Amino acid sequence: MVLSGLQSSGKLHIGNYFGAIRQHIMLQEKNDCYYFIANYHALTTIQDKGVLEENTLMMAVDYLALGLDPQKSALFIQSDVPEVTELAWILSTITPMGLLERAHSYKDKVAKGISPNHGLFAYPVLMAADILIYDSDVVPVGKDQKQHIEMTRDMADKFNNTYGEVLKLPEEYILPEVESVPGIDGQKMSKSYGNTIDIFMDYRELKSLVMGIVTDSTPLEEPKDPDKSTIYLLYKLFATPEENEAMREKYKAGGYGYGHAKKELLGKIQAYFEDQRKRREELANNLDYVKEVLKIGAERARNRAGKVMARVRAASGVLKFH
Ligand code: ADP
Ligand code: TRP
Repeated sequence: MVLSGLQSSGKLHIGNYFGAIRQHIMLQEKNDCYYFIANYHALTTIQDKGVLEENTLMMAVDYLALGLDPQKSALFIQSDVPEVTELAWILSTITPMGLLERAHSYKDKVAKGISPNHGLFAYPVLMAADILIYDSDVVPVGKDQKQHIEMTRDMADKFNNTYGEVLKLPEEYILPEVESVPGIDGQKMSKSYGNTIDIFMDYRELKSLVMGIVTDSTPLEEPKDPDKSTIYLLYKLFATPEENEAMREKYKAGGYGYGHAKKELLGKIQAYFEDQRKRREELANNLDYVKEVLKIGAERARNRAGKVMARVRAASGVLKFH
C-alpha cells in the first residue's frame, strides 16, 4: 500500500509536482494508493479559518486536476480520520525528546526565526501516525522528507519493542533524479523561501518570475555550464531528452544568452500544464463532486485506520468501551 500527504499550507509549486505529486500519480497505476491533505500539519503555520479551508479544498482540486484518479486512489483530508491524532498521542509517549530535537525541518524553521509552537515540534510524530495508521508500505516524498520517514521507522520500532510486533515499518520512495528542484533564486524551491513557481500561476505572473530567475553574469557570447544554471535545471524537468541535449549544446557553444533560455523555459512550463489548467477550472466549478470524492476517500481510509488502531489499543492497554 502506498501513502503520502501534502500540507495545505499554500499553493502547489513545481517542486511539489516533480518531487512528489508526479510520483503519486504514476504509482496509482499499479498500486493501492492513499493520498491525503495534511490540514492538521498546516495548522502549525496557518491560523486563519478561511485560509485553511480554502487551501484544503483547493489542494484537493489541484490534486484531481493534476491526474489523481479517485477510481484508483483514495483522496481524503487528514482530519477526516480522527484516529490519527489518537495514535499520534500514543506514539508521542514512546518518542524520545532527543529524536525530535534532531529533526532538520524543525531546526531549519527555528533558525529562520519562526517562533515554534508545540505542534511544530511534534510534527514528525503526527506524520508518523499518518503513515503507521494505514499499515503503509511505501511513502513517496521529496528528499527533504527522508528524515521524517526514518523517524517514523524509529517510532514504530520503539513501539514494537515495547508492546510487540504491531506496527508495520514503511520505506520511503524518492526519485534520485528529482531530489531537489531549485527555486528562482537557485536555492531549493520552497514556500518558506518565497522562491516558488506555482503550477497554476497566471501567465503574466509566470513570465515575470521566469524572466527574473537569478543568473550569473557570463556574457552572451561565452559558453556556459548548463549544470550550474537554474534555468537549465528547471527546463530539464519539462523537456524531452532530445530537447535537453539541444539546450545543453547551445549553452556549451556560446552565443546563447540566459534570456533565450528563459523564453524556452517559459513556453515549456505554460504548455506542460495546459490540460490540467482546464480540468482545474471545471473542478473548481464543481466543488460538490470534489467533496464527494473526499468523502468516499475518507470512508476507505477510516476503515483501514480503525483496524490498526484496534491493534494498537489492545497492545498498549488503552481501554475503549464505546
Ligand atoms: P514546501 O517546502 O514548499 O513547504 P512541502 O514541504 O509542502 O513544500 O512539500 C510537499 C512535498 O513536495 C514533499 O514531499 C516535498 O518533499 C516535496 N518538495 C517540496 N519542495 C521540493 C523541491 N524543491 N524539490 C523536490 N521536492 C520538493
Ligand atoms: N510533511 C509532509 C510535507 O511537508 C506532509 C506530510 C504529512 C506527509 N504527513 C505525511 C507526507 C505522511 C507523507 C506521509 O510534505
